[in-house]
Amino acid sequence: MAKIISSKLPLRVGLIGCGAISDAYFENMAPYAGYARIVSCADLNPKQAEAKAEKHGVPKVCSVAELLADDGIDIVLNLTIPQAHVEINLAALRAGKHVYCEKPFSLTTAEGRKVLAEARKRGLYVGCAPDTVLGGGIQTCRKLITDGEIGRPLAATANMVCHGHESWHPNPAFYYHKGGGPLFDMGPYYLTSLVTMLGPVKKVTGFSQIGFKERVITSRPLQGRKIKVETPTHISGLLEFASGVQAMLTMSFDVWKHNLPLMEVYGTEGSLSCPDPNTFGGAVRVFRQGDADWSDAPLAFEDKVGRGYGVAEMAVAITKKRACRASGELALHIVDIMESILRSGETGRAMTLKTTCRQPVAMPSGLTLGELK
Ligand SMILES: NC(=O)c1ccc[n+]([C@@H]2O[C@H](COP(=O)([O-])OP(=O)(O)OC[C@H]3O[C@@H](n4cnc5c(N)ncnc54)[C@H](O)[C@@H]3O)[C@@H](O)[C@H]2O)c1
Repeated sequence: MAKIISSKLPLRVGLIGCGAISDAYFENMAPYAGYARIVSCADLNPKQAEAKAEKHGVPKVCSVAELLADDGIDIVLNLTIPQAHVEINLAALRAGKHVYCEKPFSLTTAEGRKVLAEARKRGLYVGCAPDTVLGGGIQTCRKLITDGEIGRPLAATANMVCHGHESWHPNPAFYYHKGGGPLFDMGPYYLTSLVTMLGPVKKVTGFSQIGFKERVITSRPLQGRKIKVETPTHISGLLEFASGVQAMLTMSFDVWKHNLPLMEVYGTEGSLSCPDPNTFGGAVRVFRQGDADWSDAPLAFEDKVGRGYGVAEMAVAITKKRACRASGELALHIVDIMESILRSGETGRAMTLKTTCRQPVAMPSGLTLGELK
């Protein structure tokens, strides 16, 4: 039975998982404290939670169990590693709290479905990163497509190609375990952007490989330690959207240098060059049939926002009793796409997706930093 939780803004947020990305949430959610306010934090490692609480002035530090039992928390913000996302999401929902999770939503579609079913049963909200798609860059791209600037979309390409995260992340092992790899780590930014712009995906095929069986950490403090690679690190996918649009996807931790565009959409009357979907802003460029070259399109939405924007947007959605934009339903569809691409690589067959979602509703225009509707 869900405990009675507040339906008045600001909703009170308990953050679980005080690692590398938590700083961005603490900092970027500050302007949105009138909607969603971080009031406590916890981590498996209590020292980690204490350090972040001190750094960001969080009123309360506690254990995960205490945070989940706290009647003063409305939303659990789950910033743990991918392998713990489902466990914490389910525990939060069972404790009667809404939950917003970092990506990937789950390691399998089946596990993610359990989270949505638990939330539905209890009348609670589930949100999930990436919320970068709510920022000025991708929202402007979405608007340009809706406004017909490139005609009818026909095709797209999305490429995240680098040599992995062991050169900078302080504890990078999880990136090479199941639930990591470039597809589950970075794929959500690109795929959520494509679905935001073009709607849900129907069918995929894919190939994948592990380019390097072992990684050596070069960042501190674990410099020199080896990681056994357990998940594909170079993935090529083909996607067919419900609308008929087709897209090519390359996600790799195996490439030293390349000239691939990050993300482009090709239409009957022009092309759209999208910004890095792992950011909230960036350059948007349009080419229309007959133009001599690309031209810059001004951003039509706020781009100074950051990670945590989706949590505040979910808080508003909860109080207005409407769907949130960075939703669990969307995140589950993204997991289904990623899992199906990997499965296609294993089986050699095209995979029809088991899930779908609504194209996320556009953000309202004219919002300034710290403001939501
Ligand atoms: N680091 C980034 O730049 C970045 C950017 C965007 C998203 N993310 C995502 O954010 C999530 C966290 O990434 P990170 O880089 O902060 O990882 P991290 O390893 O730095 O931090 C994760 C924290 O979660 C804690 N934790 C793990 N399991 C737990 C559990 N069961 N209960 C409570 N605490 C637990 C760990 O002790 C650690 O402090 C991942 O899903 C990642 O994909 C990271």
